[in-house]
Amino acid sequence: MYGLINKAVEGLVRTRFGDAAWSRIRARAGLPDEPFVSMEQYPDKTTYDLVGAATEELGATAEAILEEFGRFWTVYTAEAGYGELMKSAGSTLPEFLGNLDQLHTRVKLSFPHLMPPSFSVSEQEAQALVLHYYSERPGLAPLVVGLLKGLGDRFGLEVEATWERVDGTRPHDRFRVRWRAKDATS
Ligand code: HEM
Repeated sequence: MYGLINKAVEGLVRTRFGDAAWSRIRARAGLPDEPFVSMEQYPDKTTYDLVGAATEELGATAEAILEEFGRFWTVYTAEAGYGELMKSAGSTLPEFLGNLDQLHTRVKLSFPHLMPPSFSVSEQEAQALVLHYYSERPGLAPLVVGLLKGLGDRFGLEVEATWERVDGTRPHDRFRVRWRAKDATS
């Protein structure tokens, strides 16, 4: 994956756990003490190794780390120069989720070798929908849960998401997403 992703993992660890924690995680993942370059491609293994090293250093599960990272990513990208791109994807959560493929198509203009996931929406209701997530990369469903919660924060919504693996002709992860206004009492 592009260095932008690893840079964001580094940013999350440094902000939440400090520079020393980052040095230990980087070393445990067997990576050199060099900055990641956003526009450079790194093997997916680098990112998975970072998550693995973080689970060991921080004593958290990979699911918890991926979810936390997803949440962080929605803010990080907006601050890392992609704020306009995020804005253009929609002004409500369901609109935004319907435009995720278009969003990554635009990202591809800057990152030509991007291998983005693909999403589609079904069963849309007033405060719920089903999101289908297609990816070449295994094990990243908890990342999507965090992304959904982060997008909820962006739109002032509390989001709940549960997911299951769907086998068949086109295996993917299927998320049942529900939301409500953050200050709602019901
Ligand atoms: C402007 C904002 C965004 C940018 C710049 C961006 C960029 C990227 C990049 C660079 C990758 C790595 C893929 C590669 O290098 O081949 C990626 C992967 C991914 N993106 Fe985005 N993205 C953005 C927003 C989002 C949002 C809002 C979601 C919400 C669902 C999302 C979901 C994902 C997922 C799940 C992956 C993991 C890769 C996979 O499943 O195969 N992205 N994105």
